[in-house]
Amino acid sequence: MDRRSFLKTLAAALAVGNARVVAVEFDPFPPAPRLGKPLSPVGERSRFEAHVQRYISPNLPSRHTGAAFAPISELDGIIHPNGLHFERDHAGVPEIDPKKWRLVIHGLVERPLIFDLETLMRMPTESRIYFIECAGNGQNGYREPPEPTLTATRSRGLVSGAEWTGVPLRILLEEAGLKPEARWVLAEGADASAWVRSIPIDKALADVLVAFRQNGEALRPENGYPVRLVVPGWEGSIQVKWLRRLLVADQPAMSRGETSEYTDVRPDGTVDAFTWVMEPQSIITRPSGGQRIAPGFHEIRGLAWSGFGKIRAVEVSTDGGKTWQEARLSEPVLDRALTRFTLPWRWEGQETVILSRAVDEAGNVQPTREEFFRRWARNNRYHYNGIQAWRIRADGRVENGDPPLAGGPVPPLRAGGCGGEVLDG
Ligand code: CO
Repeated sequence: MDRRSFLKTLAAALAVGNARVVAVEFDPFPPAPRLGKPLSPVGERSRFEAHVQRYISPNLPSRHTGAAFAPISELDGIIHPNGLHFERDHAGVPEIDPKKWRLVIHGLVERPLIFDLETLMRMPTESRIYFIECAGNGQNGYREPPEPTLTATRSRGLVSGAEWTGVPLRILLEEAGLKPEARWVLAEGADASAWVRSIPIDKALADVLVAFRQNGEALRPENGYPVRLVVPGWEGSIQVKWLRRLLVADQPAMSRGETSEYTDVRPDGTVDAFTWVMEPQSIITRPSGGQRIAPGFHEIRGLAWSGFGKIRAVEVSTDGGKTWQEARLSEPVLDRALTRFTLPWRWEGQETVILSRAVDEAGNVQPTREEFFRRWARNNRYHYNGIQAWRIRADGRVENGDPPLAGGPVPPLRAGGCGGEVLDG
């Protein structure tokens, strides 16, 4: 940096009020640095970044079923590095030799087909950027009273963004030839839980990808290596990993994953069996729970997304919800992808609560905590998308600012949970 640009940067820093004026000795001609490390065939993160890790609840009864949260409080942009993409497993991560991998398509088709990886990769592909979100994301929102030490990662880290490359499922189904009575595609994974989810035929033909690349490289084992489904905008558990079989049928499987798990309880006690589309979400990742800020300028940064399409707007309040300002959305704003929002803010050192609220292009508005529980039962477990509040204490500490609900604690209906957070945290 030359002297002029250094002074310019310094002036800019002083203008936002963050720079501390200290006497420094600045040597414009430091000694030549020592010879660095040699070329490497595979890059590694800086050792100074080793603390940026997925969060795994210490209270999980087993690390073979559960979830690891993407560290969203420490990431920027809309694409997550493959090693930090959130992970949800039901029976551990299988090791699959791509040479032995096969995909069977059968059932209500004219020509049952079997693909090996080489044959699949010769088909026409598409690359698209999408979020994938666990239906259990936000599960800590069911906790009552709200947990004061919640972080952004533990609040909404069961979502990630990536560019997925694969063959449109429509092409494979057309190759097999659907019989007129075909209504559902039952997708089965090769993990020890034999995970099965049912996809309505319209969705299967619309935009589902049979994906074998994640951000340009092979899928990570924990994200379905060698092949998984990507079902845009729908809950993660239907985006079957380690895909091995597609059974075309005239009815859904009513598998474990769509009966004892991933069903949703209404306030009157009735249960919705198929709740697929992920509702609009947003979360401020900076400043957020567990961080500590100093008075002065801050760029509020966060993520928004919706399974119904593009994010139309994100509104941010820095005064506990009394007034709202429209945040700037960083380009690109993509259909069913993570969207980054920012808002410049000066914190003067007073205690306050900051919030964000997403609006999607279908007109859905992210609800307050109270509004959410008018729609879903307090003992439900999935699809929590209530507004996350962060309280900034006068000393700069940031805590969960979610308001307690009238009525006090309600025990969850069923044991377990994606992150092991609600019952075991
Ligand atoms: Co659901």
